[in-house]
Amino acid sequence: MCGIVGFTGKERAVPYLLDCLSSLEYRGYDSAGIALSTEKGIEITKCQGKLSVLSGVLASKRKSDSFCGIGHTRWATHGAPDEKNAHPHMSQNGIFAVVHNGIIENYAEIKSELMSLGYVFKSETDTEVIAHLLEKNYQGDFTSAVRKTLGRLEGSYAVAILCRDYPGRIFCCRWGSPIVIAKNENGCFVSSDVISLMKYTDEVYRLEGGESAMVDSDEITFFDRKMKAIEKTSQKINLRVSDAQKKGFDHFMLKEIFEQSETASQTIRENIRMNEIELNCSENLSERLSSVKRIVFVGCGSAYHVCLIGKYLTEKFSGICAFAETASEWRYGDSPLDGDCLAVFISQSGETADTLAALRKAKSQGALTLGIVNVVSSSVACESDYVIYTKAGPEIAVATTKAYTAQLLTVFLLAIKTGRLKGKITDKNYEELISELEKSGEIISSLLSSMPVVAEKLAEELYTSDYIYFLGRNTDYAAAMEGALKLREVSYIPCEAYAAGELKHGTISLIEKGSVVIALMGNKELSMKTFSNIREVKSRGARVIALVQKGTLGTQEKAEADRIIELPLSHSAFSCVYEGVALQLFAYYVAKKRGCDIDKPRNLAKSVTVE
Ligand code: G6P
Repeated sequence: MCGIVGFTGKERAVPYLLDCLSSLEYRGYDSAGIALSTEKGIEITKCQGKLSVLSGVLASKRKSDSFCGIGHTRWATHGAPDEKNAHPHMSQNGIFAVVHNGIIENYAEIKSELMSLGYVFKSETDTEVIAHLLEKNYQGDFTSAVRKTLGRLEGSYAVAILCRDYPGRIFCCRWGSPIVIAKNENGCFVSSDVISLMKYTDEVYRLEGGESAMVDSDEITFFDRKMKAIEKTSQKINLRVSDAQKKGFDHFMLKEIFEQSETASQTIRENIRMNEIELNCSENLSERLSSVKRIVFVGCGSAYHVCLIGKYLTEKFSGICAFAETASEWRYGDSPLDGDCLAVFISQSGETADTLAALRKAKSQGALTLGIVNVVSSSVACESDYVIYTKAGPEIAVATTKAYTAQLLTVFLLAIKTGRLKGKITDKNYEELISELEKSGEIISSLLSSMPVVAEKLAEELYTSDYIYFLGRNTDYAAAMEGALKLREVSYIPCEAYAAGELKHGTISLIEKGSVVIALMGNKELSMKTFSNIREVKSRGARVIALVQKGTLGTQEKAEADRIIELPLSHSAFSCVYEGVALQLFAYYVAKKRGCDIDKPRNLAKSVTVE
């Protein structure tokens, strides 16, 4: 995904554009650029690399007096992350400048048509077709050129456009990727995310899919998908400016790890009343849940690992069949769904293209759909039949931590609620599970007071490893997958998680003297099973670090592992939550030791709005 901003008002646009872009860098940071409306026409400055490079280039130039401009921070999809492919893209005649987030699926067809008409393309992007198409469709009226142009585009995208002949005006639209618009005494703002606008206003207009707006310095005209003018009401931003600041931490990732005791407690408070799980869902889900016969959990990346835990928990607590699927695979598969099936789509951003496509597929097959989403009014939230917000607050670091844990606790709530509704959980067990849920924030808090030192020490020992194996069974396996992903994302150490019992069926051939194995054994019911796999790798020379619940290993086992990391005591199923937090800290400190760009790892974006 990429970040889009715009400002038009009574003050110089550049500082606003740079400031707003700075909070959108999590959306991509391959290149950045701005376009300004000036008396001489549209002026573009863009460069490869992070926003700081663009700021440096702008600082070395004469200050622009432009009061209107658009800006972009890119995560490359079409074409290399270099200057020529950086946005904004200009029409050949210099009348239009475009910034874009998302994908234009039929760009190749439009491009060849435009090339046959003599248009020359300077970039490899799909975006450039929009600029040239605008030029082709322009007969002096900005709005009608835009209407005709949008009519030709297929895909899922958001754009912001400047027209030289209408200085002070920005057109923007949401056809998939989000756009919010705000107004204050200094002017009007356009952005991909409210977090960049919190400083300037506490109210925003959120465009719905297919809506667009013509934004002037003091007036906004909204249009529906047929470009008919409509009225829209603004919504309060329920966030604090400090939510998007580092608050003294070196990195957003560490700050967000430390916020988890609070965000976990918040997730529980939102969904438990008077010792009863009452899912804080957009509509009452209970009746439907009790008749559901299967649940399929779908997501990408870390969200997929939550799906896997959701599957294990659903089967454990409610006895119904559950499946976990990666959205990119599932969307092209043939799994049959029907009205008896609940399809749960888990996504921090709510904008991940594969997850969204999978959701649309499930709906078309008649399944009941539930979104578990962090970002309010995101596409997954808007298009699901039911939505539960994780309310973890803005997550800025690209590698997810607090949103992941909030998703995890939400699937615990969902699985336990389903089990309760289906009569599979006794009163006593239900009470115990509610108490475990209610304690989770406190347990994370105590973990955060002791684990950083342990994780940092382990990171010091292992940060030069060539490869790390993660092992676990059941929920421990899913947590191992997340631990490995976190480490890969931020430290770039090759590592993979294996189902502990599966390792011997091939992969064990890789184990040799000095191989590093991190074994997750928090799930007490299965820990001795995993221990037998530890013995297998130990006897082949591996160095084993075991994560266990405090006091659950016997003296003999303790002596066998090279290092034991003790996690707080909890119900077996819950240990994956605490393993997750411990491994987030480990990944963080390894990345720090290796000098990595922790909050903005190479090649990544926080959510991927293209296939
Ligand atoms: C990207 C990120 C991952 C994230 C995944 C799903 O690939 O790099 O860290 O887990 O998207 O994002 P979502 O917003 O759908 O949870």
